[in-house]
Amino acid sequence: MKSYSIALIPGDGIGRDVTAAAWTVLETVAKHCGFVLTGTELPWSCRFFKETGRMMPEHGIDTLRGFDAILLGAVGWPAEVPDSVSLHGLLLPIRKAFVQYANIRPHRLLPGVKGPLRAESFDILCIRENTEGEYSGAGGRVHQGTLNEVAVETSIFTRAGVERILRFGFEQARSRRRKLASVTKSNAQKYSMVFWDEITRKLAADYPDVDVTSYHVDALAARMIMAPESLDVVVASNLFGDILTDIGAAIQGGLGYAASANINPDRSAPSMFEPVHGSAPDIAHLGIANPIATIWSGAMMLDHLGEKAAAGRVMKAVEATTARGIGTTPGKDNTEAITAAIVAALT
Ligand code: NAD
Ligand code: IPM
Ligand code: MN
Repeated sequence: MKSYSIALIPGDGIGRDVTAAAWTVLETVAKHCGFVLTGTELPWSCRFFKETGRMMPEHGIDTLRGFDAILLGAVGWPAEVPDSVSLHGLLLPIRKAFVQYANIRPHRLLPGVKGPLRAESFDILCIRENTEGEYSGAGGRVHQGTLNEVAVETSIFTRAGVERILRFGFEQARSRRRKLASVTKSNAQKYSMVFWDEITRKLAADYPDVDVTSYHVDALAARMIMAPESLDVVVASNLFGDILTDIGAAIQGGLGYAASANINPDRSAPSMFEPVHGSAPDIAHLGIANPIATIWSGAMMLDHLGEKAAAGRVMKAVEATTARGIGTTPGKDNTEAITAAIVAALT
């Protein structure tokens, strides 16, 4: 029997509830489909930081390297640990160390879910560059606390980094509706973004079957609201992709529905699956977090592991559940009820 080892990092806040929910669904579908998922829970979180002074142990990355995949809930408890410490101590180093350069975030409405837009038939795949750009962590502050203080945050874009994410986007477009939106701000940012536009034009020659358009990020943000059905694959830098995918979450009904896969396309290290949302301190411990984003991320994990039939079954069960109106109205069904309905819908 096939078996996969999964590192489970529930993290903080609602991360614990939504990973538990996803794990229940994943274990059930594994049984139905005849494979084994072995989960190893790692308590790395802000609580772990308070106890040990670190978000993960010194050799945490080496520990994770041995797993087939990572399922993560959310990291961050800003009341206790500054976000700049917690995220740079756990989530961001994993994406970087495991070269998970392609962050895939699908945005479409599940049946029965009412989004805020008139448009209902959009299907956007955002591909976010996940290892460099505005998140490079290069910079510093001088003359701290004085009127002369200067803070610098340098975005680093490499040809290798930009080419590989755009190629990844072109390939995704080929397997879908063959439309690619490449997103920059090259009217204002004259180095990195002009560079990105040039590479887009160069690669377009290799993909004559894909219809490519370069957009400025402000215009693309408006288009996601006004004409989301006109978009297929959207490729953006790390920060622009972060912002656009919260818009994507909003138009699909809310952060509780937005899934995310941090993929290492070369398979030289594990990939990581997590919802787009964070630890939601405002609703933590209430048991009302929507687990669908994490369950959908779990389906993306099964797909990545090669268990495509199981991934399809999870999505069918999610869709059957929302079609019945369960998990479609914020606050109506709690985490447990939504999870139980999805488990019951699994065939
Ligand atoms: P957030 O995504 O945690 O919450 C934003 C809003 O969406 C809140 O009102 C919250 O209640 C709601 N929400 C989020 N997920 C939901 C769900 N599954 N069901 C129902 N409602 C949901 O964003 P934030 O408040 O900016 O961040 C809180 C903490 O999480 C911060 O520490 C932040 O840095 C961190 N964060 C972590 C990740 C991650 O681990 N990938 C992502 C985003 C934010
Ligand atoms: C996300 C989150 C993270 C990001 C934060 C928590 C660092 O917002 O996964 O979208 O910006 O990548
Ligand atoms: Mn984000």
